[in-house]
Amino acid sequence: MKVTLAEYSGFCFGVSNALKKIKNSNSNAYILGKLIHNNEVVDELKRKGFKFTENIAEIGKGPVIISAHGVSDSITKEIKEKGLEIIDTTCPLVKNVHKITKELEKQGYRIIIFGDKEHTEVKGIIGNLNSPIVISSISEIRNIPKGKYALVSQTTQDVLKFKEISDKLKEKISDLVIKDTICSATKSRQEKSKELAKKVGLMIVIGSRHSANTKRLAEICSKIVETKHIENESGLKEEWFSGKQHIGVTAGASTPDYIIKRVVEIIKAK
Ligand code: F3S
Repeated sequence: MKVTLAEYSGFCFGVSNALKKIKNSNSNAYILGKLIHNNEVVDELKRKGFKFTENIAEIGKGPVIISAHGVSDSITKEIKEKGLEIIDTTCPLVKNVHKITKELEKQGYRIIIFGDKEHTEVKGIIGNLNSPIVISSISEIRNIPKGKYALVSQTTQDVLKFKEISDKLKEKISDLVIKDTICSATKSRQEKSKELAKKVGLMIVIGSRHSANTKRLAEICSKIVETKHIENESGLKEEWFSGKQHIGVTAGASTPDYIIKRVVEIIKAK
């Protein structure tokens, strides 16, 4: 079986940096929220002694690790007020979205975020703003009242959908600033996965079902070719491969290399 792995599959630099930073930290630290959407990595960190919590009130003694998705300024303040040490692994590209949105709001723009309002990254961005609007589809544009707006995106959104939303908003709102804040890692991954999907009979997308960027990859590839989303090799099914000669594999930003390698080896042996 011919298997091709898409370029840029697996950890992005934001996730790699976050994991590197915490590697050298006190393993009694608390990790606020989900550091990474991958059960194997999370289980390993728990075995090393790291504790996971969603609630700052539960933390007696720090340090507190902030994930690559970032948190709002009020959460950082709350941690500092408790006198806890902070290990901040927020991706610089997420920090940039915080900076851009705060500045634009100061200039009088109401911020529209294209993203998932339940996602940690989006919660962190909206937590710093006065009256942001979060939209996840083009149909929600009709509910936006007249005004002066700035559009940004969650860093892991679909590039094409962001373009569609930008174009639709331009038709409706004359006073509009658009800042494309989808990160370079997401863009390269989506582009290379799409290219590969056009050449193969089946795409396998590896990553957690809770990972925004992995779900996006599966959606994008499934518009081109038959696509299966698995979390690891245990999700593979024999019948998917019958009659297929060339399989494409891609993986989300929170999928470790060792899981990708295991999946590729199993498919190659078919
Ligand atoms: Fe950063 Fe993009 Fe990864 S925002 S955490 S490089 S998916």
